[in-house]
Amino acid sequence: MKIIAMIPARYGASRFPGKLMQDLGGKPVIVRTYEAAKETELFDEVYVVTDSDIIFKVIEESGGKAIMSKKEHDCGSDRIAEAVENMDVDIVVNVQGDEPFTSKSGLEQVLSVFNGADAEKIDLASLMTEINDWKEISDPNAVKVIVDKDNFALYFSRSPIPYPRDKNVAVQYYKHKGIYAFRKNALMDFYRLPMRSTEAAEKIECIRYLEYGKNIKMAISNTQGIEIDTPEDLVRANKVLKETKNVSVNNKYRNFPMVPKVVFGSGSFDQLTSIISPERKDKAPFIFIVDDVFKNNQEFINRMNLRFNDKLLFVSTAQEPKTEQVDSIVKNIKAEFTYAPSGIIGIGGGSILDLAKAVSLMLTNKGSAADYQGWDLIKNKGIYHVGIPTISGTGAEVSRTAILTGPEKKLGLNSDFTPYDQVILDPELTVGVPKNQWFYTGMDCYIHCVESLNGTFLNEFSKSYGEKAYDLCMQIFLEDNLTEQESREKLMMASWHGGMSIAYSQVGVAHAMSYGLSYVLGTKHGIGNCIVFDYLDEFYPEDVKIFKKMKKIHNIEIPQGICSNLTESQMESMIDIALSLVPLWENALGDDWEAIATRDKLRNLYLKM
Ligand SMILES: [Fe+2]
Repeated sequence: MKIIAMIPARYGASRFPGKLMQDLGGKPVIVRTYEAAKETELFDEVYVVTDSDIIFKVIEESGGKAIMSKKEHDCGSDRIAEAVENMDVDIVVNVQGDEPFTSKSGLEQVLSVFNGADAEKIDLASLMTEINDWKEISDPNAVKVIVDKDNFALYFSRSPIPYPRDKNVAVQYYKHKGIYAFRKNALMDFYRLPMRSTEAAEKIECIRYLEYGKNIKMAISNTQGIEIDTPEDLVRANKVLKETKNVSVNNKYRNFPMVPKVVFGSGSFDQLTSIISPERKDKAPFIFIVDDVFKNNQEFINRMNLRFNDKLLFVSTAQEPKTEQVDSIVKNIKAEFTYAPSGIIGIGGGSILDLAKAVSLMLTNKGSAADYQGWDLIKNKGIYHVGIPTISGTGAEVSRTAILTGPEKKLGLNSDFTPYDQVILDPELTVGVPKNQWFYTGMDCYIHCVESLNGTFLNEFSKSYGEKAYDLCMQIFLEDNLTEQESREKLMMASWHGGMSIAYSQVGVAHAMSYGLSYVLGTKHGIGNCIVFDYLDEFYPEDVKIFKKMKKIHNIEIPQGICSNLTESQMESMIDIALSLVPLWENALGDDWEAIATRDKLRNLYLKM
């Protein structure tokens, strides 16, 4: 079934002329609407149909598709009917140009009726939403609708319908929302049928369908949306846009997921088999993604206890995980197995843990991992995934992200579906980590705490985790009264708490700049953070002092001069990558971060490293 979205866009509007070209958060309203429709991924194509050269141009320039209507039209339906007349489509959805917050759920609901039992009978579908305020019920600008028992429309009116003659009868009023999904035939009929007086009197297009005996199925939507009809609506919409932007990247009342199951203790790794066995589905394998340092460790491999067609994939962590690496692992798994895997088990440091999370997600989400780098872009729940850290500090075992280097950026797949379903914390697995690596990765945890505790996003939730992890890092890296086992156990929990601390907050300057190093030079995360943090006394003075002390106690040399031979374009892209991580800067420096973190400042800092 080919489904397209059509956005009729008239330049002149009686109540608010030129409203579709008004600025909404830096883009014209009509561009926002177009992008919102496109982002739903419900349509094979999205078009704006307009009478205006200005609108046509702005849509084309923003990479969208626009059609000029040839004739004068009385209404949006006529305008789109003319445009689709010669197109081969089944369903045409009319999206209102002045509804820039068009929600996916509303469009999904209006389309879903075409999969229902009575789909054959439906000529077109539309949306309605409950209203309860008498002021709105009696407002002629709000079109009301009444329906039969199967939610087919009986009548639309600007009057309150039904009229409440008996005030004791409970009546639910519904407001009509101007989103339609037409079968193409119904739309073309509309175009040809002359308007009758009832439609003309009420000035409600869909009355014409009822007058000519068409069946309009109404779906109920509970999202209100904002129509831009007046300059006041535009002010409100700009406010909403700012708030939603903040919600997606900021920390205000976030409802974020936590790892639901976790085992802790030396030797707990041996519970893996019994933990995952209830998740095993018939012929579907478990895929073990394991750091290749374990490649020749047969005893450890035996403890993984692979069964049937389970697959063991050793992955080198010489480089940070990449989107193309995720894509190729996913492609191979899909090529080798008919069934989706029972689960993905990641065993290793932060790189492996992030890679395993990303593979789990990309097995159920179409396209390339690069398409999902950012906040909340993942659409579908991933495959069951288990994380087992063998180096402590990154917090990847608890985090809501899977950091990947892509063709254009280094950024995580940050979503509610990213965290592990199960984590096994066995401190014994961290025995034998080389000292430098232990330090660099441990410092990742220390820096998580510093950046979270000094950030503007900090709240008591993050603070309680951050303070605990910070305190554990002090014990581990500054004091010398811990046994090796105690130190391992404490670092494993410090990593967990440090990760939790940034889950409800964000990292800061060191991470932003370290991502720049990593993107351009391939510098690994832990060491990159250390290289950067050494020079951040302007931002974190006390904590940089403590870091230098830790470095000295453990006799760690940090590489120097790594930026001294950068070309100008490498330096520019390093700065671009660092500055693109807006939430990190907002957390570190507040709303006015751009005035502090200038390109020159970053350049000078990089040149010191
Ligand atoms: Fe980190």
